[in-house]
Amino acid sequence: MSEIRVLVTGGSRGIGRAIALRFAKEGAKVVVAARNSEQLDAVVQEINAAGGQGHAAQMNVQDHGSVEAAVWRATEFTGGPLDVIVNNAGIFAQAALEDQDIAEWDRMIAINLTGPFWVMSEAIHALEEGEKKHVFNISSIAGKQGFPKNAAYSASKYGLRGFSDALREELRDKGIRVTTVYPTATDTTIFDGVPGDWDRSTMLKPEDVAEAVWQAYASPESEDVADVDVAPAG
Ligand SMILES: NC(=O)c1ccc[n+]([C@@H]2O[C@H](COP(=O)([O-])OP(=O)(O)OC[C@H]3O[C@@H](n4cnc5c(N)ncnc54)[C@H](OP(=O)(O)O)[C@@H]3O)[C@@H](O)[C@H]2O)c1
Repeated sequence: MSEIRVLVTGGSRGIGRAIALRFAKEGAKVVVAARNSEQLDAVVQEINAAGGQGHAAQMNVQDHGSVEAAVWRATEFTGGPLDVIVNNAGIFAQAALEDQDIAEWDRMIAINLTGPFWVMSEAIHALEEGEKKHVFNISSIAGKQGFPKNAAYSASKYGLRGFSDALREELRDKGIRVTTVYPTATDTTIFDGVPGDWDRSTMLKPEDVAEAVWQAYASPESEDVADVDVAPAG
């Protein structure tokens, strides 16, 4: 197979950046997409230094037109096909039910759930043209288990799980594998400014999630890697 062609949403920092760099280590062509273009440019340099070929596509997953344009730029860079799509862009916030702001609820669903739908809608044809084809949807432990003050986040991540399960069945005949990834707490900027006693020292590192994604991708195509749980060892 020629180099792997990858699109990582939210690839500018945290888990998405680590996934982009993990594929770069394998010599992949990696398009990173997010809103902040300075952070994207920095990751592109890291991708190139790690042995891959990087490309930045500014994109807001909340905006269909922005996703359409970013996917078009991504396919320009890859020459048309995509082999891997990582739906990783996401936000996190907490609120008790009585304090839940409807605009914040809508924003959570728009970014964490409707965003992957826009990306898949726009990128499906490029993916169909790929070789070893695989979609990764980065859900969360909160997509399997409820936590207090997490209703909006959990609803978005359980929703992503459902989206992912349905796509797996729909895309299997096209030779496209779909994996849902469920990391536990991971030390990234997602916790910045979120009130709480977060002990970052016990959290996963973004590289742990990236390695789990790579291992699932590297597994034989005949293997159905539906769900990948990522949790600290022991
Ligand atoms: N960290 C954890 O504990 C944890 C655990 C389980 C699952 N996850 C999931 O893993 C994913 C990555 O999280 P992270 O911890 O790496 O967070 P992070 O460090 O805050 O990174 C989030 C990424 O998503 C991008 N993003 C946010 N809103 C966006 C939008 N509207 N359009 C496009 N890109 C957007 C950000 O870039 P811009 O802000 O520049 O757009 C950034 O690249 C999320 O889906 C999260 O829910 C995280």
